Formats: sequence, structure tokens, C-alpha cells
Amino acid sequence: MFFGIFPPVPDLGNAKSGGNVTCALVGNSFNLKGSSYGSIIDSKDLIIRMNFAPIEGYEKDIQDIEWLIKAFTTGFSGSSYSPIKSKITANKELVMVVSPAFIKYVHEVWLGEVGDYPSTGFISLVLALNICDEVSVFGFGANSRGQWNHYFEKYTDINLKTGPHAGQHEYNIIQDLDFGKIVKLYHGV
Ligand code: C5P
Repeated sequence: MFFGIFPPVPDLGNAKSGGNVTCALVGNSFNLKGSSYGSIIDSKDLIIRMNFAPIEGYEKDIQDIEWLIKAFTTGFSGSSYSPIKSKITANKELVMVVSPAFIKYVHEVWLGEVGDYPSTGFISLVLALNICDEVSVFGFGANSRGQWNHYFEKYTDINLKTGPHAGQHEYNIIQDLDFGKIVKLYHGV
């Protein structure tokens, strides 16, 4: 049923067939604001962005799959801890589903099970390392005042933390990857 709706093998595009596929991984950190990274991001072959898609940790993925099928077909009437779309009108051929086993792998192997479960951004980072030849990372980490806000929201809570995610631990790993020239990290402002 599931793979009758969505492609069993995702189409990653033929950005540069046989060549060097460059990717921009764009998190939602406030440090993006005023960074002027737009044109660098746009210059990459693949741009990976993320938002409030309800990734609730691998133990709840059955519900995520039910939501995804219904959102693309009959409509979904349930709810989640954060707002989710009941109906999605988009090209089903471009949907890529990340296996719960991959999320578990990221949590165990990459994060040493620190944090309740990996953030969407960190899962996407490991995904990018698997599908891209070159990964540039934007919009991760706190801003210069140590706040973990989103670039697109106004916050009253200036002490916002990263909830169930080990934000600082994830960021430290990204910094290590940058130091080892595995990714290029753009720090923002
Ligand atoms: O918060 P949200 O999941 O929408 O943001 C996308 C991703 O960007 C997060 O999962 C996290 O990995 C990263 N992020 C970050 N620092 C922030 C905000 C988001 O590293 N201040």
C-alpha cells in the first residue's frame, strides 16, 4: 500500500550525473537571520530544508506513516503534539521516507543515545552524508547570545532550549565534522 503511493526508491535528481553532488543542509536556527547565505545555499545541487514535520522518535513511526498516507489521499483527521497538515497537495514521486531504523541508527551510533531522539536536522545531516559528495551546513546551533530560537519566529522565551534533542551535543559533532573537513559549517550570526 505504502509503496503504491510513494516511490520505493527516491529520485535524488541527476544533479550532475556521475559527478560531484553538492548539498546545502539548512536548519532553522536564528543564526541564519541576516547571514546573507541565500546565494551560497542556492548554488548547491540539492537543498535540504526542514520544519515542523512531526518526527516523534522511532517508537511512534507507525502513526507517522498513517498520517503521511492519509495526508496525501483521503486527508488526516488526527492530531499530534505540534500542528500537522491534514492534507498535502504535492508531487508524491518526490516524497522520501526515512526508515525508523535509520533514525535509531543515528541515535545509537552517531549520538551515543544522548538526548531522547535525534533532531530532524541531525537526521538530515547523516542522510546528507550518505547521498551527497559535499555537504554545506547552515542554520544549526544557537545564535551569538546562546539562544536556540528559529529564524522565522518571534520568541518571548529567551531561554529556549532544545527540548528532547541534545542540541549542543549535536552541534559539537557538526563542529568536529567541520574541523575534519567532512562538512563545511556556516556559523551564521
Ligand atoms: O526546530 P526545527 O526542527 O524546525 O529545525 C530544524 C533543525 O534545525 C532542527 O531539527 C535542528 O537540528 C536545527 N536547529 C538548530 N538550532 C536552532 C534551530 C534548529 O540546530 N536554533
